Amino acid sequence: MIRRYSRREIERIREACEVVVKVLQKLKGFIKEGITTYELEVLAREETKRLGAVPAFLNYKPSFSKNSYPFALCVSVNSVVVHGMPSKEYRIKEGDLISLDFGVRKGNFCGDGAPTVFVGKEPPEDVKRLMEATKTALKRAVKVIRPGARLSDITRVINETAEEFGVYAVRNLGGHGIGRRVHEEPFIPNNLKDLEKDVKLKRGMVLAIEPMFSLGTEEVIDGKDGWSIVTKDNSLSAHYEYTVAVVKEGCEVLTEFKDG
Ligand code: MF3
Ligand code: CO
Repeated sequence: MIRRYSRREIERIREACEVVVKVLQKLKGFIKEGITTYELEVLAREETKRLGAVPAFLNYKPSFSKNSYPFALCVSVNSVVVHGMPSKEYRIKEGDLISLDFGVRKGNFCGDGAPTVFVGKEPPEDVKRLMEATKTALKRAVKVIRPGARLSDITRVINETAEEFGVYAVRNLGGHGIGRRVHEEPFIPNNLKDLEKDVKLKRGMVLAIEPMFSLGTEEVIDGKDGWSIVTKDNSLSAHYEYTVAVVKEGCEVLTEFKDG
């Protein structure tokens, strides 16, 4: 069952999304060489509380896992594609490429978002291309979303963008419906090979769109910690995520980031 949300409900989801964006902006400003990824976790929790919301991932049990996730934030460094766990041991270093994925619940509604951040002055050419490709895929996906479009339109534009930039859309992962819960139907694959049911989009659907690209391969494997998903060849990956609503006019981005 794919939920559809009323205008008023979408405004409530937007409020959750606004907290997500504020927390992520704060984290982006705080990231620097030498801090642990756990310090980001602490800051995310503090900020969320201050803004009157609750972290949505903390103690949340996704259907793809036997366990509930023990942190508020996913911090995925370099070859970790998604679901990297904050760590008191790992210190961020220059040249790291980090996806910060964060969600909150405010009232009865959730928002989800993610930027990728390069630590250092200027990313090397291939890292720049990877980040640009992933961001572009997300922006283009937003442009094709409207009532009557299909999931395959989203997945296709994501795949074509990866191809155009010479990077890889990773397998078995993708976006999802969101609203009352963090993960709702439909699953929105990032790779066309994973497309099952090609659902038609309707007004009121709320979706988290999250392209994940890698520099070397579309294959991913489970990390040793039981949560992280890693590129099979250890190549770098990038990940950007927006929560969007399908509206009469097309698509409304609910997690509006200042700088992509
Ligand atoms: N934004 C992440 C996703 O859509 C949510 C992670 S839930 C967690 O997959 F439990 F794994 F943290
Ligand atoms: Co998500």
